[in-house]
Amino acid sequence: MKAESQVYEKINTVVCEDASEASAAVAREVTVLIRERAAENRSVVLGLATGSTPLLFYKHLIQAHRKEGLSFKHVITFNLDEYYGLEREHPESYWRFMHDQLFDHLDLAPENIHVPNGRVPRDEVFAHCQNYEKSIKDAGGLDIQILGIGRTGHIGFNEPGSSQDSLTRMVTLDRLTRKDAARDFQGENAVPRNAITMGIGTILKAKQIFLMAWGQSKAEVLAKAIEAEPTATLPASFLQVHDNVTFYIDQAASFELTRFKRPWLVGPVKWDRALIRKAVIWLAIERQKPVLKLRDEDYSEFGLSELLTDYGPAYDLNIAIFNDLQHAITGWPGGKPDADDTHRPERATPKQKRSLVLSPEPLIAEMSMGATIRRLVSQGHQVTMAHMCSGNLAVSDRDALHAAEFACSVITEERGLETKEGGSRIPVLSELRKKSPYEEDSANVRNFKGLLRRSEAMTTGRTLSLEQKQILHLDLPFYEKGRYRRFKPGTEDVESLVGLLRAKQPHQIYMTGHLSDPSSLDAVTYGLFQHAITEVAKDDWWQDCWVWLYSPSDALMPCHESQMSVPVSPDELHEKVKAIYSYYTQRSQVPGVDNQEAWDLARSLGHKAAEEIDALGLAEYEALERFQLWNEKV
Ligand code: F6R
Repeated sequence: MKAESQVYEKINTVVCEDASEASAAVAREVTVLIRERAAENRSVVLGLATGSTPLLFYKHLIQAHRKEGLSFKHVITFNLDEYYGLEREHPESYWRFMHDQLFDHLDLAPENIHVPNGRVPRDEVFAHCQNYEKSIKDAGGLDIQILGIGRTGHIGFNEPGSSQDSLTRMVTLDRLTRKDAARDFQGENAVPRNAITMGIGTILKAKQIFLMAWGQSKAEVLAKAIEAEPTATLPASFLQVHDNVTFYIDQAASFELTRFKRPWLVGPVKWDRALIRKAVIWLAIERQKPVLKLRDEDYSEFGLSELLTDYGPAYDLNIAIFNDLQHAITGWPGGKPDADDTHRPERATPKQKRSLVLSPEPLIAEMSMGATIRRLVSQGHQVTMAHMCSGNLAVSDRDALHAAEFACSVITEERGLETKEGGSRIPVLSELRKKSPYEEDSANVRNFKGLLRRSEAMTTGRTLSLEQKQILHLDLPFYEKGRYRRFKPGTEDVESLVGLLRAKQPHQIYMTGHLSDPSSLDAVTYGLFQHAITEVAKDDWWQDCWVWLYSPSDALMPCHESQMSVPVSPDELHEKVKAIYSYYTQRSQVPGVDNQEAWDLARSLGHKAAEEIDALGLAEYEALERFQLWNEKV
C-alpha cells in the first residue's frame, strides 16, 4: 500500500540511500526469479539496458554468479537498443558494452543473447525489427524489463513523440540524447544519429518492469514521469499504465518528487531550520512575494498552517528566514578579517587562508565559482586550483587537428622548414589526419588533447588572477586509463589526492560532485575525495578545515541549500565569462546542455541565482555563486 506521502505518485517508487543499495535490491528481485525458475527447469527472459545506470546492478549479478554459484544457463536476454551504424566491436556499441559489463562474466549461452543489430542494411531494418519482436514472443515474452531513463524522458531510445504502442523500430536520436553521449564518443559529431530500439509497446508487454535512476540530473524528468499525466512528450510516463512497475532511485534523483520537494503538502513533517527555510522560500516563490511581505493567510492557504501554528506568526517566520538568507550573502568567501563573524558564513581567522579549489577537470570550477576564485586571490588568500583530471576525453578531434595544424605552421614558419618537415615534428598531426570518427584516441592523441586543455587552463587562470604555479594538474591515473562512464578509480588516485591535501594543508576546500550520477566524472572524483579525507582525518590541519561544495557546472544549487552566496558584480561577471571563453575546445561541450556554450550557461546560471534572491526581497545583484557547507565530516 502506498504511504500518505506518496499520494501524488502514480508509479511505485522506492527511494534508496544510494545507487548501490537500489541496484542490490533490483538484483535480488532478478536472482530470486532465476533461482525459482531454475528449480522448475524453466528459463527466464530478461530485457536489459545499457548506459551508466545499470552498471552496479550488473556487478551484483556477476557477484551472484561468482560467489553464490548462480547459473545463467537458463536466462535469455534481449537488449533494449543499439546504435545504428556501429560495428559490434566499437567500444561504444551496446553489443560490446553488454559483453564487457555483463555477458563475458556469466555462463550465458551465446545463442540466448539478443542485441538489435546496428549493422543491418537499411532496407532490411524493418524485417530485422519484426524478427526481434517475434524472438521475444517465441521466448515466452519478457519476464523482467530493466530500464534507465534519459533526460528527455526516453526509455530505450523511445524519444519524445513515441507512441504508447510503438514496437521495435529504427529511430532518430534526440539532440539532447546525442549531447549526453558526446563525451563517450569524444564529440557530438561522432555520435550516431539513429538507433534501433524496442518500442514502448514492447516494453509494456513485459510482465514486470524495474526502472533505475541516479543523480540530481534525473530528478526533474523522474518527477514528471511519476506524478504528471502520461504523455508522449515524456515517454517514461507511459509506464504508469503498467500494473507491475517499480522505480528504484537514489536520494538525489528523488529531490523533485512532491514528498521530498514539498513534504508539508503530503502529511505531517518534522520541522527543522533547513525545512522551514525551504518551505518559506518555496512559499515566497509560489506567491510571487518577497519573504517579508508574506502574510498568515499565505501560509495557511498554501498548506503551511501547521508551520504557522508551531513557529508563527508569519512576521516571525519571515524575519528569521530573511536574516538567514541575508547572512548567507558575503563578499568575503575566505572570511572577513577583523570582523565579528557570528553571522558570517566563513570564519574571520586566520586572516589569510590557504584555499584549495578542486575541479574534476578544467572548466568545472571556473564555471561554478570563477568570480569567487578571483575574490579569494584579491583578498590575499593563498589559492591553489587543482584540476584532478586532464579533461582530454572532452576534446574533439576537430579541435585537436586545428591545434596540431597551427603548431605545424608555427614550426614551419619559424624554422623556415618545408611544410612536410614541420609536420613530421608533430607526429600527432598525421595521426589525427588519418583518424576515423569512431576510432579511439591513442595515448599520443590523448596526451596532445590534455596539453590543449592545460594551455586553456593557464589562460583562464590568468584571467582569474591565478599565477601559473597556483594551477596544478593532477592527471589522476584512473582518468588517463579510462573512458567516460567506465572509470575504475583506485588507490593510486586516492594517494595522489592525499598527497595534495597534505602538501597544501588548506583551511578551505572547494569541491563538487555530491549529487551527481555515480558513474559521472564529478561523482567519481567526489568519491575519491571522500576516501582521501578519511585518510587525513587525524591530521591536525584537517581539524580546522572547512569544505564548501559548489554547484555542478550545468545546474544551480537550490537557494535553500546554500549557506554562502558570493555576489558577482557586472565587471566580475565579464571577467568570469572571458575566463571561461578561453576554453575554446569546450565551447559547445557542456554535457547535456543543448545549444548553449559554457560561458553563456555560467552567465545565465549566475543571473538566475541573483534574480531568485531579488525576488525574495533581498538586494539586487548582477549574479551570485552559491556554496553549501559540507557537513559529513569524518
Ligand atoms: C540504454 C537505454 C537508455 C538509457 C538512458 C539512461 O539501453 O536504452 O534509455 O537507459 O539513456 O542512460 P544512462 O544510464 O547512461 O543515464
